[in-house]
Amino acid sequence: MKIALTGATGQFGSIVAEVLLKTVPAGNLVASVRQPEKAAELQARGVDVRHGDFDQPETLDAAFAGVDRLLIVSADGDNETRVRQHKAAVDAAVRAGVGYIVYTSVADAENSSLFLAPVHRATEEFIRESGIPYAFLRNNWYLENEAGSIQAVKAGAPWLTSAGEGKVGWATRRDYAEAAAVVLAGDGKDSVIYELSGTPATQAELAAVTGGVLGQEVAVQQVDDAAYASIMAGAGVPEAALPIVVAIQGAIRDGALDIKSDDLQKLLNRPLTPLSEGVSQLLG
Ligand SMILES: NC(=O)c1ccc[n+]([C@@H]2O[C@H](COP(=O)([O-])OP(=O)(O)OC[C@H]3O[C@@H](n4cnc5c(N)ncnc54)[C@H](OP(=O)(O)O)[C@@H]3O)[C@@H](O)[C@H]2O)c1
Repeated sequence: MKIALTGATGQFGSIVAEVLLKTVPAGNLVASVRQPEKAAELQARGVDVRHGDFDQPETLDAAFAGVDRLLIVSADGDNETRVRQHKAAVDAAVRAGVGYIVYTSVADAENSSLFLAPVHRATEEFIRESGIPYAFLRNNWYLENEAGSIQAVKAGAPWLTSAGEGKVGWATRRDYAEAAAVVLAGDGKDSVIYELSGTPATQAELAAVTGGVLGQEVAVQQVDDAAYASIMAGAGVPEAALPIVVAIQGAIRDGALDIKSDDLQKLLNRPLTPLSEGVSQLLG
């Protein structure tokens, strides 16, 4: 059985590859990557490294040839680009006769108010229309997204947020990636949707966890969106990214990431990595 990973040289995909290599023969693993030179280490371990660039759909035919189970890691560009790229990947999977698609989606993709949800809604739809059975991994929120806030708190700043009491199902990127590896290495053939989420927690709760790890009191500064944008601009967030970081706070405030599900721990067959351990790793 051939398992292929797109994004295998990215942060998420490289963990999936590392986990799979513990149980799957390297020769059964394909890394479909846009920069094969970045995958030299995987190649040295016997992984079949192939050139697969979502922006060059013709490369994907060879990259996905003979593949039974394919992980499509969502790409990282703007929304319009990602929709085109993901469509190219799904179309190529159909041409190559891929048997099962695993896709990294977003929490509650159908209803989510997150600015990045339309990309995932569209991609889930492409996959459904392809007729290929699938697993949608609706990853909630990487704890790593909060690295900036955690470092700021360490440096003595308050935990800044405009998300109010909105809850987030944080889990570590590694936990999400290990769950992806479980699904890929398994023999599931039916279409399934996993809402992969940690126990929903507020910003104040994560700030308290961070304070516990640091052994210091952490103040939480709740502000409105305009103040959040202006403080973030002062902290060096680029102008173009400001609407995005503010929109994320707003969506969290509206409950977009407040998803209760034990799908993640069921797939992992173990408790999730505690937030305190994740925070501790982020603090180095
Ligand atoms: N739920 C969350 O909280 C959360 C947080 C962050 C990201 N995400 C999503 O999850 C994805 C994976 O996260 P990550 O941390 O692993 O991010 P990442 O390291 O930026 O991974 C993105 C991957 O997409 C690949 N890619 C980009 N354009 C491509 C193209 N034209 N053709 C083929 N591959 C292409 C990149 O290839 P290279 O290795 O060559 O750069 C990279 O491996 C992100 O892209 C994003 O969609 C979710």
